[in-house]
Amino acid sequence: MTEKITLRPAALDDAQVLAQLWAATFPDKFGPILGDKAERVLYDWLRLSQRHLQTTTVAEIQEAVVGFIVLETPLAPRADDGRWLWHALQLNNGIFGALRGLLLMVLIDNDRQLSDNEVYIEMLGVDQVWRGLGVARCLIEHAEEVARQQGLSQLALAVVSDNTLAIQVYEKMGFITRAERCSRLFKWVTGHTGYYEMAKQLSTVNG
Ligand SMILES: CC(C)(COP(=O)(O)OP(=O)(O)OC[C@H]1O[C@@H](n2cnc3c(N)ncnc32)[C@H](O)[C@@H]1OP(=O)(O)O)[C@@H](O)C(=O)NCCC(=O)NCCS
Repeated sequence: MTEKITLRPAALDDAQVLAQLWAATFPDKFGPILGDKAERVLYDWLRLSQRHLQTTTVAEIQEAVVGFIVLETPLAPRADDGRWLWHALQLNNGIFGALRGLLLMVLIDNDRQLSDNEVYIEMLGVDQVWRGLGVARCLIEHAEEVARQQGLSQLALAVVSDNTLAIQVYEKMGFITRAERCSRLFKWVTGHTGYYEMAKQLSTVNG
């Protein structure tokens, strides 16, 4: 059976379900950094900052949120919302937990500068139950549409180098690997040796 997938901008009411999805789809990142209460920290971060919500599109099937994509564009660049992460961490993990979490987040943060011709996929995730149904394809095609509307010529992203499944999905969607980044620090925090920077060149409206 083919499920109908619909997309819409995320809203404040989605903070809870997005926190669940973030924690479930990126346990390797958020678990070590945010601790046992990762989902709760993410919920507080989302509702306090709202910056991520403004740059998130959710995918729904049968009116339930089943996936998300977070996009950074030259018109909506990454905001400096570290202070809201700090508040969310402090609320749930206390001052020392907050210091630890913020430090780890800063250490592994990919501070690559957004180029002025691209849309950057900050995060993409689909609920395990709903994978393999074209939800990620739909969300990536949405990112392409956003890029075209803004006259931008490429999509870019980073994916940990042992996430074979996601790499296969991206390659199938036309992404190629541009660079591999490795660091001991990254491995120490996340358990992954490094990550690939991938990009997809988009054809312009005129050709
Ligand atoms: C990676 C992820 C987003 C894929 O989501 P999905 O909704 O299952 O992917 P889709 O069903 O849209 O598949 C997109 C394309 O990849 C292909 N694909 C999906 N799973 C695949 C697999 N295991 N192996 C090879 N190709 C695969 C699909 O066939 C589809 O191509 P097609 O439309 O030509 O058939 C999902 O597995 C996920 O959330 N993983 C955890 C978080 C993560 O790793 N995010 C990406 C890292 S930034």
